[in-house]
Amino acid sequence: MKPTFSVAGALAATFAITASASDIPTCDASNACPSATPCCSQYGQCGVGAYCLGGCDPRYSYDLQSCVAAPVCKSGDYKLSSLDDVQANTEYLGDSSGTNWVSSGTPVVYNDDSILLTMAPSTVGTLLMSTHYVWYGKISATMTSSQGAGVVTAFIMMSDVHDEIDFEFVGTDLESVQSNYYFQGITDYDNEENLTVSNTLQNTHTYTFDWQPDSITWYIDDVAMRTKNRNDTYNTTTQQYHFPQSPARIELSLWPAGLAANGEGTIDWAGGLVDWNSADMTNGYYYAIVSDVTVECYDPPSTFSQKYGSDAYYYTSTYGTNDTVAIGNNSTELASFYATGDDHSVNPDASASASASGSKSTASASATPQTVPGVSGGGNAGNSGTDSSSSGSSNSGSSGSDTSSAASSSSTSTSFQQGSGFSGTSQAPPKDMAGSAVALLGFFVACLLM
Ligand SMILES: *[C@@H]1O[C@H](CO)[C@@H](O)[C@H](O)[C@H]1NC(C)=O
Ligand SMILES: *[C@@H]1O[C@H](CO)[C@@H](O)[C@H](O)[C@H]1NC(C)=O
Ligand SMILES: *[C@@H]1O[C@H](CO)[C@@H](O)[C@H](O)[C@H]1NC(C)=O
Ligand SMILES: *[C@@H]1O[C@H](CO)[C@@H](O)[C@H](O)[C@H]1NC(C)=O
Ligand SMILES: *[C@@H]1O[C@H](CO)[C@@H](O)[C@H](O)[C@H]1NC(C)=O
Ligand SMILES: *[C@@H]1O[C@H](CO)[C@@H](O)[C@H](O)[C@H]1NC(C)=O
Repeated sequence: MKPTFSVAGALAATFAITASASDIPTCDASNACPSATPCCSQYGQCGVGAYCLGGCDPRYSYDLQSCVAAPVCKSGDYKLSSLDDVQANTEYLGDSSGTNWVSSGTPVVYNDDSILLTMAPSTVGTLLMSTHYVWYGKISATMTSSQGAGVVTAFIMMSDVHDEIDFEFVGTDLESVQSNYYFQGITDYDNEENLTVSNTLQNTHTYTFDWQPDSITWYIDDVAMRTKNRNDTYNTTTQQYHFPQSPARIELSLWPAGLAANGEGTIDWAGGLVDWNSADMTNGYYYAIVSDVTVECYDPPSTFSQKYGSDAYYYTSTYGTNDTVAIGNNSTELASFYATGDDHSVNPDASASASASGSKSTASASATPQTVPGVSGGGNAGNSGTDSSSSGSSNSGSSGSDTSSAASSSSTSTSFQQGSGFSGTSQAPPKDMAGSAVALLGFFVACLLM
């Protein structure tokens, strides 16, 4: 069946495993973030620090400087054979010269020639994001998918204004991959098309996007499988071309679309509920294997007139269309997890950054802004006036900082019981994933209803 929801939203929301939505200011078309927590994350919540880095949405942030400018495209052959080039999102502060990938979840080195994206019980899987953006280019990933009901592997391009180009692998259909695209997160039906491929689990294939200002071509093993022209994407309601056109990060992910908490549309699309006791969970987790990503950057069109430098992309308006993108010499770095694009140099004290590492111990009871999207432990939002996460398990979302909250009575954690219930699997979730167990939130469901 066709998805009747935004797969993009579902994926993003699955990784939005932060404290309960009610504790954090949200941001959308009618609510920009406040000055104290100026950055609107890709999950639609306001914060500082990593909220202002990759994924920060300039449309709904406090102002156009809040989101840190994005490192420009860097052509290369990125061998994913170790974690040397991967930094956790709880550590990365925007220095793309030092690292090409940012992760959430648990990537694992395999055979010294590839990386496993893992998904253990009680987790929402693993996400790898490029630090450099691509603004048109040819992007390839050499990979296998995972398998099983509810288990989705994805290789996508995701922009900060939610333009998106996808390959998605639903674990119940290993003979096809879904190609898709979105413009600014708007769910346009009929964008999806299935591409035939031989066993995505057993066979390593190379999947490629050739993304140009006027067309996108999806390739599998160098064979063109589908082309979408911009001129065929005109939407008469918005009177815009619903075609991906803004700088985007490369994202590789393995995530559980088949969770009981999710909308029926999502679960159906994903082929059913995830079986957390499946034989496919070698070593106690589902996994997909990625060995290589290549990027050939294209120059902006010859008509491009906003080139003021060469280091970073930024937006000159909240429209988020390709004519509002500029290239400058802007810094892409923050001094700490309390800095923002509006003030890159904030660094209250060195230990403060520990609150971004997933530990709640340093989060004081005073209002502390969220610092890493999708990660617990930053305390509650600065302007919410509510208590910090120390009281977290008391209600609704039971705040992401409490790694044991799967035991709480919130609807969130209840919905995740099916994942955490199999404590008898061969391997407990690695410690740094435990925070993820908090999971899916009514927020996730809310996203699916949009
Ligand atoms: C793609 O394949 C899935 C099954 O794997 C099917 O449910 C869906 O309807 C197909 N999409 C299209 C556009 O045909
Ligand atoms: C980038 O630099 C330009 C020129 O200096 C400036 O106008 C713009 O506000 C900066 N944008 C960001 C996001 O840093
Ligand atoms: C056109 O855009 C509107 C508003 O964003 C959206 O609801 C609609 O689904 C789009 N139309 C088509 C045919 O996709
Ligand atoms: C759409 O664009 C493609 C590629 O640029 C071109 O070949 C085609 O003729 C265009 N179609 C229309 C209807 O303009
Ligand atoms: C924006 O997209 C249009 C349509 O494809 C193209 O003509 C124009 O050159 C693009 N501009 C930039 C700066 O990418
Ligand atoms: C950006 O840096 C380049 C190289 O250093 C320089 O030539 C250019 O003038 C700078 N642009 C601005 C707007 O300062």
